[in-house]
Amino acid sequence: MSATPTNSPALAVHVRGVSKTFGTGETAVTALNGVDFTARQGELLMIVGPSGCGKTTLLSVIAGTLNFDCGELDVFGSPLHRLKPREITEFRKRHVGFIFQAFNLIPTLTCIENICVPLLIGGVSRRVAERKALALLDEVGLGARGHERPTNLSGGQQQRIAIARALVHEPRLIICDEPTSALDKDTGAHIMDLLRTAARNPNRCVIVVTHDSRVFKYADRLTEMEDGRVQRVHDQGGNYDLSE
Ligand SMILES: Nc1ncnc2c1ncn2[C@@H]1O[C@H](COP(=O)(O)OP(=O)(O)O)[C@@H](O)[C@H]1O
Ligand SMILES: [Mg+2]
Repeated sequence: MSATPTNSPALAVHVRGVSKTFGTGETAVTALNGVDFTARQGELLMIVGPSGCGKTTLLSVIAGTLNFDCGELDVFGSPLHRLKPREITEFRKRHVGFIFQAFNLIPTLTCIENICVPLLIGGVSRRVAERKALALLDEVGLGARGHERPTNLSGGQQQRIAIARALVHEPRLIICDEPTSALDKDTGAHIMDLLRTAARNPNRCVIVVTHDSRVFKYADRLTEMEDGRVQRVHDQGGNYDLSE
């Protein structure tokens, strides 16, 4: 990856004036409207806001899975707005782990095989990949379930497998879109504990989009979005009152 150092080494993600419109003419929808956004290394940052305000679009831009119309974006010092598509794909494979509301595990693979996927895509041998997958499986407390298919597991267990898959190639950026929305309170808390632990790595950044106010307290900082922009950033370290 070609890396140009940013001026602020503590920033993991630095978005400046990014806009994204879907479609053209009368059906055009502006999902991001000149958004400025930062996430720091070593933090768990939450993004909240009403449905349709651009949270998923912003995550997709940051993760390098969606082209944007204008603006600039540095992720761990790489200027994504200047990289070629092939370089962005390489960046994503090496440095980004994804966790989604619907887990997005591959149903025909066992849990271990699912966890191995990012490593195999990255060219790691199957033997080494399986060893790392087993270690991660233990870390998320599912060491005994590796040879089962994900559909045999509960929602919370499937999300733990998805976390193991997101972490197995040791990415610096973990992108989570509504990771606890399909889970009950206690299971959601367990998932957030795992994500908090992942965020303790000072070289890493965990970004969590959520509308689940039960988990706000896990955030180091909380960013409120509205109409394709950041409206407010709260940094009370866990004690957030968004009632205003
Ligand atoms: N692929 C797409 N094609 C057309 N419109 C889209 C697409 N993705 C998102 N949008 C629109 O962009 C806006 C922001 O969407 P999204 O980022 O998914 O919001 P959020 O995640 O905050 O609910 C919404 O109006 C949505 O309908
Ligand atoms: Mg969304």
